[in-house]
Order: sequence, then C-alpha cells, then structure tokens
Amino acid sequence: MRPSHLEDFYSFLRFPSISTDDACVEKLSDCAHWLVTKLNGIGLTAQLVQTPRHPVVWAKNKHRAGRQTVLIYGHYDVQPADPLDLWDSPPFEPVLKDGYVFARGATDNKGQILSHILGVQETIEEDGELPVNLHLVVEGEEEIGSPNLVDFLQQNREALKCDVVAVSDTGMIGRGVPTLSYGLRGVAALNLKVTGPKLDLHSGVFGGAVANPITALAQLLATLHNREGRVAIPGFYDQVMPLQDWEREAWKKLPITVDDAILKETGAKKLFGEAGYSTLERIWARPTAELNGIGGGYQGPGSKTVIPSYAFAKITFRLVPNQKADEIIPLAKEHLQKNSPAGVTLDFEGGHSGAWYLTDPHAVYGQVAQRALRKAFDREPALIREGGSIPITTDFRNVLGVETLLLGLALPNCRAHSPNENFPLENLEAGIRLNKAILRELAT
Ligand code: BES
Ligand code: MN
Repeated sequence: MRPSHLEDFYSFLRFPSISTDDACVEKLSDCAHWLVTKLNGIGLTAQLVQTPRHPVVWAKNKHRAGRQTVLIYGHYDVQPADPLDLWDSPPFEPVLKDGYVFARGATDNKGQILSHILGVQETIEEDGELPVNLHLVVEGEEEIGSPNLVDFLQQNREALKCDVVAVSDTGMIGRGVPTLSYGLRGVAALNLKVTGPKLDLHSGVFGGAVANPITALAQLLATLHNREGRVAIPGFYDQVMPLQDWEREAWKKLPITVDDAILKETGAKKLFGEAGYSTLERIWARPTAELNGIGGGYQGPGSKTVIPSYAFAKITFRLVPNQKADEIIPLAKEHLQKNSPAGVTLDFEGGHSGAWYLTDPHAVYGQVAQRALRKAFDREPALIREGGSIPITTDFRNVLGVETLLLGLALPNCRAHSPNENFPLENLEAGIRLNKAILRELAT
C-alpha cells in the first residue's frame, strides 16, 4: 500500500461526517471540500454542488465522443458512532490493527468510494488519461435517505447522461470472494405514537380506570407478526415477487456457511425469521417489519408508579420487488388502527422511504461487471441480492435511464453502522484493482 493512499484514507476518515447530526454540518462541508481538493489533485475537474442540507461532490474528466460514459457513485456521510463506549478506539481516529482500519465509515462508505478514486488516480498516472468518460458523484446524505440527490439528478439530467452507474456500497460474501449484487431491498419508515391520558398519572389512583398507552402499544406491536415470523398485516405480501428458480439454486451453492457466521457475528442464540425460507432468502428476497425504537413512561433509576400519557415506536419495513412504500404504509396504518385497543388514540408520522432495486446480472453491463470482478480477484464472482437499501439506484434508472452495477467491498464482519466498524487494506487494494478493471472492461 502506497503511504500516500493510507494518508488519504486516514484524512478522509477523520471527518465526523454524520449526516443526521445537525452539529456536524460544518464537518460534512469540510469533508466535501477535502474531496474536491483531492479530485482536482488527481486531474479531474471537481465542484461542490450545494443542496438544502449537505453538498454533493461532482467530478469529471474531459469527455470525448465515442467513448463509454460511467457514473461512479458513493457517499461521504456516515452513521452516528454511538454507543461510543462500545468502541475499542475513538471512531474518528482511524487505527490499523492486523491489516484492518477501524473507524466509523471505514467500510460504509469511505473505504469503498476512496478505492474508486485511487483507482482513477492510478489509471491517470499510468496511462495519462482514463479510457472512458467519467462522472464521479459523492453525496453527503445517503444515510438519511438521499433527500436532495434526486433533485440534483433531475437538474443535471442532460449533463449527467451516461451508459451505466457503478457503486461500491454493498457486500462481499466472504474474504476474497468477488461479489456482484443484482438486487437490494427497499425501506419504508413509520413512526407510531399511542396517547392515553392528557398527563402522566398516579398508577394507584387511576390504574384500572384508564387505558395504559404502553400496554396498548405492546398489544398493537404484537399484532405485526405471527409466531412463525411472518408479517401479519393483511395484504402485506400481495405484491411480493417470488424468488426466481435460478437464484434459489445458485444461492444454495454459494461457498459460505451463513447461519454459523451470523450466529457468531451477532451473538444471537438462535436464528429466527419467516418459516419456509433459508436465511439468505429471508435477508435478500423477503420483506420484513422491524421495530427500531420504542419509548414512553419512566426510564430513570428504580421504579415509579405512573401511567404515562403516551408511548411510541419507530417502525421500518424492508420491502422487496414489487412492493411499494405508498401501498404498504397505508396497509400498516389501517391494520394498526383496526387493532387499536380501546381508550387510546394513534398518531402516525411517515418517515423516509426508498425503493428496492433488481437488475439482470446476465445482461451486457452485468457481464462487464463480472469480467472486471474476475480480473481483480482472480476468482468466479458470486451473484447475490442483499438486504440493505440504496434507494438512489432506482432514481438512476428512472431519471438517467441506466442500470447500476453493485460491486461491493464490505466484508460480513465489517460492522457497518455498529461499533468498531472496519475495512481491510486488502480490500482497499482490491477496490483499486477493481476500479481499474471496470474502466478497462467498459472501454473494450
Ligand atoms: N451501504 C448501505 C446499504 C447496504 C448495506 C447495501 C448492506 C447492501 C448491504 C447504505 O449505506 C445504507 O446503510 N443504507 C440505508 C438506507 C436508508 C437510510 C434509506 C439502509 O439500508 O438502512
Ligand atoms: Mn450505511
């Protein structure tokens, strides 16, 4: 690893670019400026495009007619680092241990997008120029649902015209196993508030007389699933596309032992989920309803005899082809309303939502991606779907009319969004090779 590459990686990681945290606005701007300087420094023309929240970094080389145009996309924003006490080293002071760099954003997405940038840099150094026309778009709002990137795409639709998009923001099924992801789940968020009495009450004086909103919330949330792990909202599965035969067969043959790996990585005692599907099928191709947060009532030390005025839950659904957020959210609200216990009222707040993505890994650009992966890793690529979401991929299709190649470099134990997130230098190197290979493959 070239020392300057490592320096770049560390500098990039030192920005606490937490997009959801208003206290970090300036840090995101600093990080975006750092990228602009870096990209100009390697011979691209980079600019900062302001949005209502965090800026987009947009760089290009000199475009020439008759060449393929590729848009490489990534994000410089990161998830919050909490809980801080579970980190072995401070999240924004990168450290190298046994070949792995530990820091928030190391995998998601700074290590991955930097490997593209360094691949572009090395190609320009070696050949004097790139073999393709390039757009590099690095946004600062991916972790909050990319609220302003669609506008950016629409406003610059003509200028951003391209043949294909390449993104490294997904996973590899194992160390050294090149992986092409051809599907992602979507996401739809719903916040629920259950209100009972107008103020917190003495539970001895009023208990038995009025409904307890926490009890009501617990009863309501329990109606979301049956005991076999299926979502119990009527109509929830109506639009779900069945798994294709070829993928069920292919996934069975993948060179990984998922169940053991997940038990080890998560510390869960037992795997659990919708009956009738393998673990990979449940994560990659089946929808879920997840409770992400719950609150209400007394949270302090000891006990307090109180009936709280309200309780709340934060819910997200992971959606699969062909479910739509604007159909699922109303179904969920209707179901909750119908099951609402007496004596409380429900209030809903819609959160962000983003579409799933599914493309054909055997189509022309999928084959280009597979060739590049084979070249960079010297091994046959695994073709998979994934459970996470990158909603902008659907906008690339709808606004720019192009497909997205998901060439991820995240390892199963990378701890993205968790304490001790890490990225191996081996994958930074592999990402550089992959970037060079994809540029070359596109040019031939
Ligand atoms: N890199 C992830 C998406 C991802 C994770 C894809 C794992 C495949 C496997 C991305 O940065 C992310 O976390 N996205 C959010 C999107 C949401 C905020 C709209 C997600 O999936 O929760
Ligand atoms: Mn993420």
